[in-house]
Amino acid sequence: MSQEAAFQDTLQLPGHVSPDQVRAFDFSADPEMARCPFAAIARLSGESGAFWNPTLQRLGGGGMWVLTSAEDTRFVLNRPDLFSSKGGAGFSALVGESWDLIPLELDPPAHTQFRQLLNPLLSPGAVGRMTPGVTSRAIELIEAVRGEGGCEFMAAFGRPFPVSIFMQLMGLPAEKTETFLDWEFDLLHAREIPTKIAAATAIRDYLLQLAAERRAAPVDDLTSFVVNAELDGRRLTDDEVMGILYLLFVGGLDTVASSLGFFFRHLAENPEQQRLLRANPAMIPRAVEELLRRFSVVTVHRRCNTDVDVGVAVVCALGSLDPAAFDKPLDVVLDRKDNRHFGFSYGPHFCLGSHLARRELVVALGEWLARVPTWRLKSGAPLEVHGGGVFGVEHLELEWDAA
Ligand code: HEM
Repeated sequence: MSQEAAFQDTLQLPGHVSPDQVRAFDFSADPEMARCPFAAIARLSGESGAFWNPTLQRLGGGGMWVLTSAEDTRFVLNRPDLFSSKGGAGFSALVGESWDLIPLELDPPAHTQFRQLLNPLLSPGAVGRMTPGVTSRAIELIEAVRGEGGCEFMAAFGRPFPVSIFMQLMGLPAEKTETFLDWEFDLLHAREIPTKIAAATAIRDYLLQLAAERRAAPVDDLTSFVVNAELDGRRLTDDEVMGILYLLFVGGLDTVASSLGFFFRHLAENPEQQRLLRANPAMIPRAVEELLRRFSVVTVHRRCNTDVDVGVAVVCALGSLDPAAFDKPLDVVLDRKDNRHFGFSYGPHFCLGSHLARRELVVALGEWLARVPTWRLKSGAPLEVHGGGVFGVEHLELEWDAA
């Protein structure tokens, strides 16, 4: 009997699952995920529409459905009436509280109200006004390592770049960047729970204090907007303010850093694509879309609570790598047409920060390609990548011929 069959034999399956629909795949610990998470899950993509994964416990209970096709992914993400977002992320539980991340963990109609309130903050116009700051930060970080002939990309650029953009967005002092980097790392990557809790608490306390300061003396920044915003003629509650500020912190850091890690690793391994983009910078925005499809790093969760109460994991990469929706899905086709990928999810929760994220990614690629000669993986350096809720890159040693 195979290991998987033996495992299935010991399972108590819920009534809506038949044994042939079970597939135990550990998105965090499967050894293949540590080599290339996307190639590992591409084997699951498009297979049978969905499988029951007993190893996923996120929303309580013993297992979750995992969608494997683009069509089902689109259906589930676009039906919040059938598939709820409540309670998916669990950050407030870490600090012993129960507020929702807003708007991520809300369903319509409350979700719609908050999206209307928050959309203008990260609209294309708002992002346009942020672009000079985004660009000068990218240049500063690149210039610090350009002459060195190499760097550990995640420490030099991948992580600090989105953190400092978040600081600009929220109106936070640049000298707190190192502290925020440490909190972000501990919250999302520490293995010990007390370290995670300490970081979650420090972030909560800092955001509470910031909210109080901006309430007393508003300035022209996003935090002041949120603490003074009105919904249905009332001020937002403290829990609502915290849910919004916290989501802006966790939503735009690891996602951008991880995407950058995979994009730069891919380009390091494909110097001809670097050459093409260097010669044709106008191709970069479309190339970023394709890289977002090929490396869709986020997994989101829904709870179906109609006739059965059951969790659904929507691994965005599975939708983005479905061969029925994308020709040669594992190939990076820099000018791919009709690229309706799931990198930013789909439906009402489509990433609120997508315009900013795209701008960060386009600026990062554009400035690196313009300033640094062809980069490659440093020979002999280990590649450290991981699966999990946000697929990521831990270390990425790059080198180039310094002038
Ligand atoms: C490459 C970078 C990014 C990726 C891959 C990404 C991905 C996603 C995904 C997949 C969702 C949908 C969650 C769901 O369907 O439940 C989402 C939602 C969200 N993202 Fe992003 N994100 C990125 C960057 C950002 C940035 C820079 C910000 C803000 C500063 C941001 C803010 C948000 C917010 C507020 C939501 C909640 C939207 C809602 O629930 O209506 N994201 N993101």
